Amino acid sequence: MAKAKSVFFCKECGAESPKWLGQCPACKAWDSMVEEPNAGKKSINKAASASPVKRAMPEKLSTVKVQNDLRIVTGVEEFDRVLGGGIVDSSLVLVGGDPGIGKSTLLLQICRILAGLDVDVLYISGEESVGQIKMRADRLGDFKGDIELLSENNLDNIEELVIEKRPKVVVIDSIQTMFREDIAAAPGSVSQVRETTGSLLRLAKGYGITIFIVGHVTKEGVVAGPRVLEHMVDTVLYFEGDNSTDYRVLRAVKNRFGSTNEVGVFEMRSDGLKEVRNPSEYMLQGTPVGEPGSVITATMEGTRPIMLEIQALCCQTSLNIPRRTAVGIDYNRVNLLMAVLEKKLGLKLSFCDAYVNVAGGMKVNEPALDLAIIMALLSSYSNKALGEKTIVFGEVGLTGEIRGVSQAEQRAAEAAQLGYEHIILPKVNLKSVSRSGLKLTGVSHISELMRLF
Ligand code: TYD
Ligand code: MG
Repeated sequence: MAKAKSVFFCKECGAESPKWLGQCPACKAWDSMVEEPNAGKKSINKAASASPVKRAMPEKLSTVKVQNDLRIVTGVEEFDRVLGGGIVDSSLVLVGGDPGIGKSTLLLQICRILAGLDVDVLYISGEESVGQIKMRADRLGDFKGDIELLSENNLDNIEELVIEKRPKVVVIDSIQTMFREDIAAAPGSVSQVRETTGSLLRLAKGYGITIFIVGHVTKEGVVAGPRVLEHMVDTVLYFEGDNSTDYRVLRAVKNRFGSTNEVGVFEMRSDGLKEVRNPSEYMLQGTPVGEPGSVITATMEGTRPIMLEIQALCCQTSLNIPRRTAVGIDYNRVNLLMAVLEKKLGLKLSFCDAYVNVAGGMKVNEPALDLAIIMALLSSYSNKALGEKTIVFGEVGLTGEIRGVSQAEQRAAEAAQLGYEHIILPKVNLKSVSRSGLKLTGVSHISELMRLF
């Protein structure tokens, strides 16, 4: 039978189909099929197997030796922690994020530290020339050791070079610019991304090389998202943040060698990324005192509490349909909480425009912030400020009840450390924070809130 000229791939999961389908039969994503030239069965099979180059023999579980020093600790605590305690030997790590968020900068900084630790590093960029990388490196400060740079898109050449040079750490920036000659599709297409990652996987596992892959997350459609990649690599890190603010969060969404709970916090400066060791202090810079509409809360990022300021502004509307804006928090959650306020406390919010904002540019999505959002709205609506040195946390249900939150002790401890004196929290959490030494106000329904101003 004649070979079909093209096949269809799902952008989300990489599933293959001979014809276009509205819904992917494997992952059920809608409108995710893209057409690509048929690469041929042979090369697909070859790339799909991730086996090391030499034939391996099975080993008994009881005799397998584990070396504990297989991690390289870079000393950048925010980075090491997200990886589960340092860079694991022979691992394949995907660093994803929006274009321009700072992925190349982060990895170049890590390379710089590795070079200082006498680790052989090869930085391969398919996007920038060697000169451009040098310019960036100069902005980041002095390099103690040296790293090798290469500007190349052809993965066959890269593979040869890596096998010849055997560096300890390789950075591929970015996977969307890499191609293999035997695949007919364009760089960045699902089949190229899948096949090139397959090759890199074999390099990493077969030759004991740690490989960092940069993957751009693009807006719908154009390029294959790193979703396809996520299944193949050991660790997936996402570098998030707002291009308009300096605050960046490195988050592990998959980690075969550690917890996915951890986040690393960085600040983008003119001389590269700087660690933010105490995110709470950073987030609370410039918080107004005694202003209606401003409420401090504590959220959990993994195992770490971070204090934030929630701001709300309610003002009379001149529109038929009042305007609602939520920045940094879920818009629907804000609408829901406003509906609860309207129904349970009789606030006339349908005559008000309302804007809710997480100050500092952080994005949070935790029910424990509900009470702080409600307090901020109430505070702005009634034009009364909450007492100084007060923090608020708790989940709010649809009937106006205030429900307990997890890790209340850690939140209280962080508040105490930063000099806060009073916590408004769910009644059920009172017992767990009783030893914090702070003044505690337990609440169980939103009808109890107005008298706290
Ligand atoms: P970059 O690492 O190139 O992003 P990515 O690789 O994720 O596409 O970062 C680009 C942005 O970072 C750019 O807008 C400029 C900014 N930047 C700084 O603010 N300071 C610096 O020292 C560097 C190197 C970049
Ligand atoms: Mg880049």
